[in-house]
Amino acid sequence: MTRQLFVTTALPYANAGFHIGHIMEYTQADIWVRYQRMAGSQVHFVCADDAHGAPIMIAAEKAGKTPQDFVAGIAAGRRQYLDGFHISFDNWHSTDGAENHELSKAVYLALRHNELISTKTIEQFFDPAKSMFLPDRFIKGECPKCGAKDQYGDSCEVCGAVYAPTELKNPYSVLSGATPVLKTSEHYFFRLSDPRCVDFLTQWTQEPGRLQPEVLNKIREWFEPDEEGNNRLSDWDISRDAPYFGIEIPDAPGKYFYVWLDAPIGYLASLKNYFGKIDKDFDAFMADESVEQVHFIGKDITYFHTLFWPAMLHFSGRKTPNHVFVHGFMTVNGGEKMSKSRGTGLDPLKYLSLGLNAEWLRYYIAAKLNNRVEDIDFNPEDFVARVNSDLVGKFINIASRAAGFLTKRFDGRLSADLGVEGLTLLDALRAQSAAIAELYETREFGKALREIMALADKVNEFVDQNKPWELAKQEGMDAALHDVCSVCIEAFRLLTIYLKPVLPALSAQVEAFLKVEPLRWSDSARALGAHRIGAYQHLMQRVDLAKVEQLFEAPPAPKLVPGGEDIAPEIKIDDFAKVDLRIAKIVKAEHVEGSDKLLRLTLDAGEGKTRNVFSGIKAAYRPEDLEGKLTVLVANLAPRKMKFGISEGMVLAASHADEKANPGIFVLEPHTGAQPGMRVR
Ligand code: MSP
Ligand code: ZN
Repeated sequence: MTRQLFVTTALPYANAGFHIGHIMEYTQADIWVRYQRMAGSQVHFVCADDAHGAPIMIAAEKAGKTPQDFVAGIAAGRRQYLDGFHISFDNWHSTDGAENHELSKAVYLALRHNELISTKTIEQFFDPAKSMFLPDRFIKGECPKCGAKDQYGDSCEVCGAVYAPTELKNPYSVLSGATPVLKTSEHYFFRLSDPRCVDFLTQWTQEPGRLQPEVLNKIREWFEPDEEGNNRLSDWDISRDAPYFGIEIPDAPGKYFYVWLDAPIGYLASLKNYFGKIDKDFDAFMADESVEQVHFIGKDITYFHTLFWPAMLHFSGRKTPNHVFVHGFMTVNGGEKMSKSRGTGLDPLKYLSLGLNAEWLRYYIAAKLNNRVEDIDFNPEDFVARVNSDLVGKFINIASRAAGFLTKRFDGRLSADLGVEGLTLLDALRAQSAAIAELYETREFGKALREIMALADKVNEFVDQNKPWELAKQEGMDAALHDVCSVCIEAFRLLTIYLKPVLPALSAQVEAFLKVEPLRWSDSARALGAHRIGAYQHLMQRVDLAKVEQLFEAPPAPKLVPGGEDIAPEIKIDDFAKVDLRIAKIVKAEHVEGSDKLLRLTLDAGEGKTRNVFSGIKAAYRPEDLEGKLTVLVANLAPRKMKFGISEGMVLAASHADEKANPGIFVLEPHTGAQPGMRVR
């Protein structure tokens, strides 16, 4: 029977583009999925944006957008990464989609029906200026231990102390600067401490093959009773008060699901959305015992996926995940992990825009991955070595060494009878098919690639021993040359099958060159025979270390001033304060007889009298277009006697350093609301 798989990766927060950690996770899952598809499994591979929560709501507000528009903007940027790195999701959805609203409410109501929802009044910091409860990350103050200023609500970055936000001295809201006040509110809880949950999870987590051994070990700690013998699984706070970007809790006005409640349900929502598009029955599929549900996640979100998520599913009457595959973090240049907020290091889009081949990175990531929860590091020299000596030097080289002779001398036709030595080599390659398949199946991608490269070594030894370039020069060696090159091409086809989950685009090129149907795993058991191949075109370049190093160069400092005008020498704030800038209304603007540069402005700077100012903006403005507008006046500039009268100040305008080459003068105008006389500081 066809194996049916429902595969997901973690849903990325919809507040930024992808960093290398996301690409690593998607690549790992994508390789596994592509292997499964090649092996004949039916796979539905989906993801979505994790749209909800306070940080995204606040980011949207800062960007001057509704949360919906904000996350739509982020979603629109996803395609270029996914296509760029050949990530083959069947669907990309959003946790704010209608399916997720509906499913989240259904899951919640089922939990409530099972008496697993309770309420409790809790006390929390509240921002009186913003009228909202503050998540810990949005509260700062002085560390209660060492007194360091500006420390977050949960821990001190200076002395490492961990504390509750209520322990901070002189706390303030990061959002408004206001002093937070303690306020009570009723919260909804998922009763994870209920014996039914504890029993279920104890069993579920220990099911053989479900979790990696080290993940299970970690989970055991969470289950150990505390000093008083009470179980450590505590009830989970699943509600947040308005204002919140999320899904409203049924029968609880002003209360929303905490983002981590509806986020994993987003896996189901994305699948449901996809099934809507391909007209497939979602409920039947989800109820089908033979379907395997598989989640790829990073180690930081294990708790959510191995406790809350299976419990939510089980106690709402649903099937639970068959596998949660946890991976470690990707670091760059031995550096820190890519944090959610500081996702720098190796920018995936910069990688692509430098013209670096996405499959080099896929190959490198695969070469480093195993099925344990280990961090892996991107190292430029290592990257170059693996791509150039293994991928190009060992694999691609095989085709380039043989293809030319075949096209030139044998019209691209392969020899049907390959000789004992060649057949033995090909048998050795075919013999590894099941072992390599098993390595893909168990996510031992690094080992799989080592196996494959060991086979490529054998093929290259065969080439070195048989020396087709010498056979080609010798009289009467045509048949031998034909056989050797045909063996190479058949070997290259086999290696391509083995590498295809990692190198999908390259494999498609190879399929076109070999003139074969899309390669499947079972094609390794067949032979091409007297098949005719196409003309060889170079398949893959070597990578240049200098290019890779460019990845980590800081972007050139933006030219602050068009035309290269240097920034004036540094001043102190006191120097700046000497300049009294005021909002002024242009009451009147008129031409000046005899001047082709100046306009005469009558300004009201809120002084109870007007000022006369000459301004060199005639080339850019018609007087009538200025009247009634606000601008900025240097109000304490010494009056200056000019040919046409006294100028009592100066209005501010922008222009290019080289005004001749780049004409244009732009008078400054304040945002709406400013009043004449207000000081600009
Ligand atoms: N939105 C949640 C997940 C909800 S799943 C129902 C989230 N988002 S995230 O954008 O912060 O992370 C998405 C995935 O990327 C997670 O699996 C996380 O572990 C993974 N990674 C984040 N940084 C990573 C690395 N540096 N390396 C590898 N994976 C990393 O968490
Ligand atoms: Zn401290």
